Amino acid sequence: MTPLLSAHGITVRYGSLAALDGVDLRIEPGQRHALIGPNGAGKTTLLDVLAGSTRAGDGRVLLAGRDVTRLGPAARSRRGIGRIHQRPAVWSTLTVRENVLVAALPRAVRPGRWHPSARRRAAERTADALLARVGLEEIAALPAGQLAHGQRRQVEIAVGLAGRPRLLLLDEPAAGLSAVEVAWLGEFLRTLPRAVGVLLVEHRLDLVYALCDTVTVLRDGRTLATGSPAHIRASGPVREAYAEGVA
Ligand SMILES: Nc1ncnc2c1ncn2[C@@H]1O[C@H](COP(=O)(O)OP(=O)(O)O)[C@@H](O)[C@H]1O
Ligand SMILES: [Mg+2]
Repeated sequence: MTPLLSAHGITVRYGSLAALDGVDLRIEPGQRHALIGPNGAGKTTLLDVLAGSTRAGDGRVLLAGRDVTRLGPAARSRRGIGRIHQRPAVWSTLTVRENVLVAALPRAVRPGRWHPSARRRAAERTADALLARVGLEEIAALPAGQLAHGQRRQVEIAVGLAGRPRLLLLDEPAAGLSAVEVAWLGEFLRTLPRAVGVLLVEHRLDLVYALCDTVTVLRDGRTLATGSPAHIRASGPVREAYAEGVA
C-alpha cells in the first residue's frame, strides 16, 4: 500500500548542529503514529519539515506517493497536512467560531458550489459541526484571546480539522492541560475517523500507548527505534534515552 506519508533522509542543520540527521518516517493510511524522544531530539523540527514550514537541507517528503518536498505550508495544508502547534496558535481578536470559519473556508469549495455565499454557508456548517464536536458551541462567540489554555487547544484542534486533513500533526497537545482535559483529548483523538492519519508528538507516554499503534523514538536528530508500543517499551536503548531526560 502507498504510505500516507513517507519521509526519506531528512536532514536539517543549524550551524554545526544537526537537528535532524537522515531521518526516515513512514505513516500508513489511518495509522496513529507517535513520535517521542527527549527534549531537543528534533521532534518539532521534523513536524516543521513535514508541514513545510522548515525546509530540510536534504531529504524528501511524499504525501500519498506525491513528492511535496518543494511545497510550502499553505500548499501542503491544501493537500491534506494539518498541524497543531506546541503553543496553541489562534487569532486572539477573532471569535472562536471565526477562527474555525477562516480555516474551513478554503476547503469549502466544491464543483458547482463556487458562489461566495454558498461557499460561506458550507464553511459555516463545517465550523458549527466541528465546534459541537469539540464542545465549544457555548463559547463560540467569545474572542479566542479570552480563553484559557485548554480551550485554546480545543479551538486549535477544531481549526486543524476544518482544513479536512488526511494527516494531522500534533505537537505535545497534552502539555499544560489539566487531568480532565487530557482525558478529553485522549478520547477525542481515539474517536477521530480513521480517514485521518495522526502523527502525535507527546511526552505523556500513557496517552501515547493508549492511542498509538506505532511509535518512533528520536534522539539527537536520529531515529533510535520504530515499532509497536510493546516493542518500544521493551527496548533497552529507548529506556536509556528516556532515562536521560524526558519532560
Ligand atoms: N531555529 C533554530 N535555530 C537553531 N537551533 C534550533 C532551531 N530550532 C531547533 N533548534 C535546535 O534543534 C534541536 C532540535 O529541536 P526541536 O526540534 O525543537 O526538539 P524537540 O521538539 O524534540 O524538543 C535542538 O537542539 C534545538 O535547540
Ligand atoms: Mg518540541
